[in-house]
Amino acid sequence: MPVAASSIRTAKRVDRFTYAIRNIVVEAKKVEAGGKRVRYLNIGDPNQFGFLTPPHLIDAVARAMRDGHNGYVPSPGMAEAREAAAADFVARGVNVSADRVLITSGASEGIELALTGIVDEGEEVLVPSPTYPLYTAVLAKIGAQPVYYRTDHTNQWQPDLDHVKRLITAKTRALVVIDPNNPTGAIYPEATRKTLIEIAETHGLVILADEVYGDLSYDGPVPAMAALNNDAPIISYSSLSKAYLAPGWRAGWMAVGSSPRLDGALAAIKKLADGRLCSPGPMQYAVAAALTGDRSHQVEFRKQLRARAALTANRMNAIPGMSCVMPQSAFYAMPKVELPPGKTDVDFVLGLLRSTGVLTVYGSGFGTPLEDGFFRIVFLAPLDELRALYDDVADFTAEFRSA
Ligand SMILES: Cc1ncc(COP(=O)(O)O)c(C=O)c1O
Repeated sequence: MPVAASSIRTAKRVDRFTYAIRNIVVEAKKVEAGGKRVRYLNIGDPNQFGFLTPPHLIDAVARAMRDGHNGYVPSPGMAEAREAAAADFVARGVNVSADRVLITSGASEGIELALTGIVDEGEEVLVPSPTYPLYTAVLAKIGAQPVYYRTDHTNQWQPDLDHVKRLITAKTRALVVIDPNNPTGAIYPEATRKTLIEIAETHGLVILADEVYGDLSYDGPVPAMAALNNDAPIISYSSLSKAYLAPGWRAGWMAVGSSPRLDGALAAIKKLADGRLCSPGPMQYAVAAALTGDRSHQVEFRKQLRARAALTANRMNAIPGMSCVMPQSAFYAMPKVELPPGKTDVDFVLGLLRSTGVLTVYGSGFGTPLEDGFFRIVFLAPLDELRALYDDVADFTAEFRSA
């Protein structure tokens, strides 16, 4: 075949890149094409389940567009949004000024900017197992290595601090802490957070504190990790996606902590941010509206989430061969099913999808071993719908385990 006629070769980095939460939708589409209805419990998007964006945020964005604010904005973000985000961090005890805050296309972009700006090819980053898979996906892109530290389902999904310590090498650059956690719903006590900071400090690591669910702990907002030690190099993240119910707007913010040890990182992140021009302008008007305005929707949202979490954990724990830690935050549960010999979490999740139309995500997509039998449920659907879905999960599990 002439070279011109052969197919275009793809980059090797793509082979390493996975994002199971969306990759699995290909399988769901096949099931739908076969005529079966799919119930999508794979993506954490509250909008799809009737939890709607507060009107004052929509007004702020619509007004900005109508007033002609549709041009580029400064790369680190609009002053008003940066100041509102900085003031919100300060109110949470994080000592940061607006010039160290960037407005990003969701927390996702901020995570990518920081890892790209700080971690070189071949270097290592500690990520929890299970993890939110963006971290491993970005590390695959930049040629760096994720190193998984255990969080323990027999201990309410708390991090195994000795394991974190043991994994540190001369190549380790950063420690990712997702608290409140996706996919486990865990929140970490202050003592654990302090120890994580001490470990990072001892080894000169930067902490990426992912706090996009910080306001969605059922008992109310959890403090920001950086508030425990404003001198430690901590980069904190949040966004409008979850607690402000606007995931499609792609509006997030990051604070590069006030430690002078982060000055170089801040400059690197800003340099990279210039190259992507800016995050969407009109949505930045909603950041100040969100952070200075009425947050009462969160009270009802947390109440609804607590009820769904309890139903999910109770129903999963009632299924023979299944166990589930009760989530304390957000809208995810990570049950474990005892697998028959030779079967994997992927077999279970694909079997469940094909047999019942219920789409979840296998734990191995979050870094747990295939044979451990974890899978993640997004429990945003109404309680009645969840009850019916969980009946299907129970029936399928019995069938799968006896086959
Ligand atoms: C732990 C965690 N971090 C970051 C993100 C990305 O959020 P955003 O929509 O702000 O990019 C998500 C989204 O699900 C998440 O679960």
